[in-house]
Amino acid sequence: MSSDFYTDPKILQAERERVFARHWWLLGPAEQCANAGDYLCDTICGWPLYAIRGDDGQLRAFHNVCRHRGAQLLESGAGNCGTVRCPYHSWQYSTAGELLKAPRFGDDDFDRSQCNLFSLHCKVWKGMIFICPAKADNPPAIEFEQWLGSLPGLIEQFDSLDDMDYYGSFVVEGQANWKAYCDNTVEGYHLHSVHPRLAKAVASGTVEIASYDNGALVAFHVGYGEAAAAAKLRGDAGIWTYKFPGFQLAISDNAFKIERLEPTAVDRLRSTNWAWYRNLDDAEREDSFAWSRTVVEEDIGICEKVQVNLAAGVYQSGPLSPAEESHVVTLQRYYRSELDASTKGDKV
Ligand code: FES
Ligand SMILES: [Fe+2]
Repeated sequence: MSSDFYTDPKILQAERERVFARHWWLLGPAEQCANAGDYLCDTICGWPLYAIRGDDGQLRAFHNVCRHRGAQLLESGAGNCGTVRCPYHSWQYSTAGELLKAPRFGDDDFDRSQCNLFSLHCKVWKGMIFICPAKADNPPAIEFEQWLGSLPGLIEQFDSLDDMDYYGSFVVEGQANWKAYCDNTVEGYHLHSVHPRLAKAVASGTVEIASYDNGALVAFHVGYGEAAAAAKLRGDAGIWTYKFPGFQLAISDNAFKIERLEPTAVDRLRSTNWAWYRNLDDAEREDSFAWSRTVVEEDIGICEKVQVNLAAGVYQSGPLSPAEESHVVTLQRYYRSELDASTKGDKV
């Protein structure tokens, strides 16, 4: 794909309208929204939004925008509240998104029900909250189960996520287009050059990369070397998956890591990661977690070096290796088909 796709702000705008609004995004772990009033709030692809557990036990998601003058209602992060109070003029909303109070508004005929929050589609799968940024007035452009595609089948052999312990999360930001990171994610060509520790841990000849769902899903089936402590840190064998547009999941017997990758500008990205472990002592968990962060930093670091040249105007595109980069080709094809898809009715 030519460098314009990675540098032109108009492309990012088109992606937001035609692609990001139609797809599903990881918001975070559902265990952070276990009790009534628990919420998880973030900005994804420029849309401030949150999910909140209602008094009735139901999890709902909303755009984080007050219907009065548009202030953000909640700060990013996890928290708990009985009602959602706008910090600007103190309008109050229920956990179900209804406008409860508009203090001193001064209009007896004011119909509060016209100012309920904009709701979003929200699903929980394997302890993770996913949202679709399009308003929930209509069915989602892509049903969640359809969006997951082949992913559930790929990880079904790892059926006991329940007894993994949540360890923590980390965020890495960088100066690269989000697609440079995706291209990088679906090839193993760079493994030895960019990830020296990971390359040593992965048993040679054990990596098989396969593409599913027209290129929207790519999975690395990985084995780890017996001698390496990695065999325990990462499990004897595992799967790393990339799911278009911005979800990654890595799972093995002892570790489960998920990642949301999103653009924050045409040449900026943010990677947010969460990790769970079992059968590892404290030092091993700490090491595994730090190692995961190092891998993300290594990937973003190399993408930043690419991005400078994508913007410099000398390089447009280069040949992709049939042996090593065929999944980059299928992913880019899939991306183009999504970008070219009809926008009718899909806008946020
Ligand atoms: S913007 Fe929220 S109360 Fe005014
Ligand atoms: Fe990598």
